[in-house]
Amino acid sequence: ATITPIPSPPGLPIVGNATQIDPVAQRRSFSDFADKYGEIYRLHLPGQRTLVMANSHRLINELCDEKRFAKIPNGVLEEIRNGVHDGLFTAKPGEEAWGIAHRVLMPAYVLHVLFYPAMFSGEVSIRGMFEEMHDIATQMALKFARYGPSTPIPASDDFTRLALDTLALCSMGFRFNSFYTKELHPMIEAMGGFLTESGKRPSRVLPSFFYRADDAKYWQDIEILRNTAQEVLESRKKHPDDRKDLLNAMLKGVDPKTGKHMSDSSIIDNLITFLIAGHETTSGTLSFAFYRLLKNPESYQKVQNEVDEVIGKGPITVEHLSKLPYITAVLRETLRLDSPISVFGVVSLEDQLLAGRYPVTKDEPMALFLARAHLDPAVWGDDANDFKPERMLDEPFNKLPKNAWKPFGNGARACIGRPFAMQEAILAMAVLFQNFNFVMHDPTYNLAIKQTLTIKPDNFLMRAIIRDGMS
Ligand code: HEM
Repeated sequence: ATITPIPSPPGLPIVGNATQIDPVAQRRSFSDFADKYGEIYRLHLPGQRTLVMANSHRLINELCDEKRFAKIPNGVLEEIRNGVHDGLFTAKPGEEAWGIAHRVLMPAYVLHVLFYPAMFSGEVSIRGMFEEMHDIATQMALKFARYGPSTPIPASDDFTRLALDTLALCSMGFRFNSFYTKELHPMIEAMGGFLTESGKRPSRVLPSFFYRADDAKYWQDIEILRNTAQEVLESRKKHPDDRKDLLNAMLKGVDPKTGKHMSDSSIIDNLITFLIAGHETTSGTLSFAFYRLLKNPESYQKVQNEVDEVIGKGPITVEHLSKLPYITAVLRETLRLDSPISVFGVVSLEDQLLAGRYPVTKDEPMALFLARAHLDPAVWGDDANDFKPERMLDEPFNKLPKNAWKPFGNGARACIGRPFAMQEAILAMAVLFQNFNFVMHDPTYNLAIKQTLTIKPDNFLMRAIIRDGMS
């Protein structure tokens, strides 16, 4: 192949392409560039920075090679790092606290503990969290029932309550009670503020003087987050219990490699990290899944049938969850079309060629743009844009080309919460379909995206009509 320079949209002096990227709809801007420039292009950003966007499966496949590329937190992740330091999500390569936390927590997060018999303490497993997940999912169903059949339900808001309350309960035995209170818990409020500001900080253009009030609030929110997590930690240390949650896993776990325990500060970093990494992602997934199902009545009917056949009207048990292949496929297909994290980043470890022809330089940041790569017709065919859960049933799914489906990230830095999120989402769908029929509040609604750190359907309202005999 011949060396091909990576195309770049023409930009302005100094700020480069920055003004062409919509700060509240970056995904759209990146996608528009992809329409024009194809599988790869390079953006120029203020401060001589560049960002190479990869939009096809063959390029993503290369960027997933951890010998050639590594995750280094920059941009928004660097801002989040101010609050949670070398916690799992925001750690730099090689940081010791990442390694210890990763090895201590991996077994807890693994659904099939078979692979980790030596490390697995037998204490904490995602399966073991079923009862508490079920508790919160039931609270949501009761709220849906109380809305009544004609009240529009802001799906994303309630799925966010579900995700936050489930995480806080399963990770540290803490109840936000979001379904019972109008005001959000101060920790949730602070997290919202912290994340919003983290999203804005990288694109600041004025001298720092202008941001004094924003900065004060930002650091105050971080303090609230850390103080709350610290109180939870102290209280657990003072009154130890044998709850099988992530806090106990972190307190008791010993890193098999170094023999070390996680430090208090690392435990606090990661308690907050779980809330950050796990709430919008899971809630976005559920919101998009309902949107897609309401737009695709055949798939909707298949979900309904599966729940009725496998679970019926009786109580849902943990055993049911692995017997719902269609719901699992619906979630996988949703994560393909609407990856809540639609882009994640790596940097090049050396000067090298991508696809044997596009030169990139050492340390250059690159983005795996899932919103496009997940639609690559080379993998998904001509109907790549359509919602077809059938292609995500185990049989085709397990034979997908390598790195074709990356909603949970890659390699050592892939999502540690994947089994947690899948169990929670499958359970929520099962509980809701067992008890309700759903309709789109406005049948003419078409998907609009709201972007913060993650993406969600904007203004998506549905209604829930109780099926006979709620269980
Ligand atoms: C990492 C997606 C749920 C905790 C990641 C990454 C992605 C992702 C794409 C990699 C980010 C990067 O490379 O920069 C998702 C999706 C979820 C989900 C789509 C839901 C459907 C969760 C949950 C938790 C969680 C529920 C916590 C219980 C984490 C952590 C990391 C991570 C700690 C960092 C792992 C590391 O680098 O060691 N997630 N996530 N995630 N996620 Fe998730």
